[in-house]
Amino acid sequence: MQEAEPTYLRLAEELNDQAHMTSLPEGLSYDDIKILPQRSIVNSPSEVSVATHLTDGIRLNMPIISANMASVTETDMAVLMALQGGIGALHRELTIPEQVAMIQEVKDRHQYIIDKPPVLHPGDTVGRARELMIEHERGYVVVLDSDNKLHGIVTTRDLRPDFISNDRALSDGVARTHEQGLVTAPKDISVKAAQQLMWDNRVEKIILVDGEGNVGGVITDRDIRGLQRYPNATKDSKGRIQVLASVGIGTDAVDRALASEEAGADGIIVDILHGDCQKATDLITFLSNQLHIPIIGGNVGTADEAEDLFNAGADVVKVGYGPGSFCTTQVVTGTGASQFSAVVKSAAIAHFHNKKIIADGGIRAGGDIAKAIAGGAAAVMLGGVLVGVDESPGMVYRDESGRLYKIGRGSASATANSSFAKATGAVAKRRAPQGVDAVKIGYKGSGEELLFELVDGFQHGIANSGGKDIPSFQKVVRFERQSPASYAEGRPHINNQ
Ligand code: XMP
Repeated sequence: MQEAEPTYLRLAEELNDQAHMTSLPEGLSYDDIKILPQRSIVNSPSEVSVATHLTDGIRLNMPIISANMASVTETDMAVLMALQGGIGALHRELTIPEQVAMIQEVKDRHQYIIDKPPVLHPGDTVGRARELMIEHERGYVVVLDSDNKLHGIVTTRDLRPDFISNDRALSDGVARTHEQGLVTAPKDISVKAAQQLMWDNRVEKIILVDGEGNVGGVITDRDIRGLQRYPNATKDSKGRIQVLASVGIGTDAVDRALASEEAGADGIIVDILHGDCQKATDLITFLSNQLHIPIIGGNVGTADEAEDLFNAGADVVKVGYGPGSFCTTQVVTGTGASQFSAVVKSAAIAHFHNKKIIADGGIRAGGDIAKAIAGGAAAVMLGGVLVGVDESPGMVYRDESGRLYKIGRGSASATANSSFAKATGAVAKRRAPQGVDAVKIGYKGSGEELLFELVDGFQHGIANSGGKDIPSFQKVVRFERQSPASYAEGRPHINNQ
């Protein structure tokens, strides 16, 4: 029997046929359509899987990416997103060293193999070991001999007694050495085997060494337990959480991309407001040949543009030209693309390339996520919705009426324009802003809670339209075009007169 095709492929064909019949085709936005309910095949929406993947190496348990915007994604947001099963895209209003440091900070959180543990030598002092533990926020220091091979380890427990003075040498009976039963393992030990080894030896740390005594990292019970608290976390092959970094198309783009890969980024977004231009496609082609991590191109507003980026070598394309909550592009330039149509048609192109698209912009709630994914997107990118949670960058302010808020702004706002110039050392170009500046956005509290609500809403959307996961949802989903009256009917309209 032939496998059912995703609904969005048929819809894309119909939209394309319509477009061929007129030079003024109609574009659809999320608010133009509804998803029709169908018989549920799951016992509970919470059973619905919302797992997806962008590429073989980036597999998400939640199809949400936080936008690479200065008021949306820095370290804390990227960590939140990855721990919850999505992924964060760090913004690029940073110097290259600042961007590298931010990537490293994300990668260092919640990993279970610490591959660059703090190290000292036997002649170093207890005081230095105490300092290093505080600096690295670790409860141990690895001690290496003069050939940089494993000599021993010092832990907080070894340094706890007050009589261990700061000027005592680690070699003076402080470091635990091989003779005192150091527990080591090869670098490729599994989490399960590492836990067993710790239990067998009643220790909480294992040092990873190769056959010649070179140290390849440390695994601790605390780090393993930390990661187990987040079973849905998005992790790389070394168990570290994943993160995306972005570059523009300016002169520093190649250096920025190479430095980001080196720092551990799991994918590079070549991100400009209008991504289908020669400079961007040349850069995508160059980076996709040079780097070993996926390249995400964008943004585009039509299927033809998506095709250009896939042909240039993009692994994933970000679709969204002007629908974002901070965008003024459509007002300022008159150009734009209706987001639902853009997603459906670009997803069809991606399908034939065996690649994926991200629906970027215009998502306000779980229902829009359902519509974007039903329309063929592998994941959605969120900006404005995430501004104001604890993990978004910036302070919480209080206005005259006592309302708490954070500040959000577009990546093409006047402030962003000068901030990009500062980060790259260039002179800011004079240009009309295409994004709003300094918007007060009400404080929203915990990001984890907000993500739960978005995902829960999306899971109900899938369950109530006859799906059990994203692939089955995309096949069974049925849409209805809504009239203005139908749209109004679907919003709260209680008469409390
Ligand atoms: P939402 O609706 O989630 O959209 O806030 C996030 C996306 O909007 C884009 N973006 C902009 N587009 N001018 C634009 O035309 C801007 O100033 C701007 N800032 C953000 C971007 O693609 C982001 O992911």
